Amino acid sequence: MSGSATGDGHGVTGEAAPTTGDLSRMTRVTDDVASGFRVGGGDGTRAVRAGLPEPAKHEPTLPGPVFAAHYHLPGDPTGPYTYGRDENPTWTLLERAVGELEAPGQDAVETLVFASGMAAISAVLFSQLRTGDMCVLPDDGYQALPLVRAQLEAYGVEVRTAPTGGDAQLGVLDGAKLLWIETPSNPGLDVCDIRRLAEAAHARGALVAVDNTLATPLGQRPLELGADFTVASGTKQLTGHGDVLLGYVVGRDAEAMAAVRRWRKIVGAIPGPMEAWLAHRSLATLQMRVDRQCATALMVAEALRERPEVTGLRYPGLPGDPSHRIASQQMRRFGCVVSFTLPTRARADRFLDALRLVDDATSFGGVRSTAERRGRWGGDAVPEGFIRLSVGAEDPEDLVADVLRALDASAA
Ligand SMILES: Cc1ncc(COP(=O)(O)O)c(C=O)c1O
Repeated sequence: MSGSATGDGHGVTGEAAPTTGDLSRMTRVTDDVASGFRVGGGDGTRAVRAGLPEPAKHEPTLPGPVFAAHYHLPGDPTGPYTYGRDENPTWTLLERAVGELEAPGQDAVETLVFASGMAAISAVLFSQLRTGDMCVLPDDGYQALPLVRAQLEAYGVEVRTAPTGGDAQLGVLDGAKLLWIETPSNPGLDVCDIRRLAEAAHARGALVAVDNTLATPLGQRPLELGADFTVASGTKQLTGHGDVLLGYVVGRDAEAMAAVRRWRKIVGAIPGPMEAWLAHRSLATLQMRVDRQCATALMVAEALRERPEVTGLRYPGLPGDPSHRIASQQMRRFGCVVSFTLPTRARADRFLDALRLVDDATSFGGVRSTAERRGRWGGDAVPEGFIRLSVGAEDPEDLVADVLRALDASAA
């Protein structure tokens, strides 16, 4: 999409940002991309280099955050950088990075970053749907989705829901304009077949968006599985330190993405430059964090499987889990969240209280393990003793020991 002063924004996806006002660097990187320059290799290599500008003498590897409400703009107000709500060089680098991770080697995708995951989700739904349209949402997705549903309905959009497991959304697709998928679902960890659902939705003329928050782009690449949009909260494992709120949308349809960009401009749900820069900085360790956290999550799930007081244990990476077969087909890593149920609310509370290495906190994906009794929010259809445990980067043996000790301590 090309920038224009009167269009939907001023950024040009695929262009590297100028750093400290050096616009010539942008041209150089664009030329390199055009001449076939690519960061190759595996996930770790891609993650450490994602979105970086070409090395330039005396310039930092990852240019610092650009704090600008406006930019020098004599003459005709053309992009890429005119006003801070429309574009920012720090976003541009982060958007390139996220695009390289979500859709490696695909030049045609466009990425937009947002103030939070909910800002990104709302941007897709509210920019694509009109009064009279029908949209399909999961009924077991992130707990703010019912709020979104109520708002869509208030605008005259019909919303149908179905569970994630068993590809149940297939049954309510007829007439849909947009299918929203969240897989693995939060907090139930059900998985659906993205390729199958996307094919069915496209056959009916519907667009498909996948919330990729739990998997991260290293765990799953929805665009390659047929989705039109991949959307995520970068607040979770993507940034991974529990100190940043962020969201993003990656899409392949220029017209649809123009509408998403326009929505960001209208609503102004933009990330601060500092948050964008912190997020980009965190991407360098994404593969190490994800690999470590996924491996430990599997160990924790295996340990929990042996405990008689634990029921409803879910981890898509655990052989025998109801999600495992499809997860193995479409995921490359299975995430850092394990969920399970303890017999009573009181037992769950005592368990959380007894944990020493796991903070009682919401959210997930951070390097420090967190857990919570999900029923305390009232939004999820889960038993009172349901625990969502987010596995961090602690030593696996320490974490497993802490979880088992807390289970023992909470038995009384
Ligand atoms: C799956 C999923 N999507 C979206 C969101 C919303 O993200 P944010 O809190 O960054 O707005 C969350 C938050 O927990 C989530 O778990």
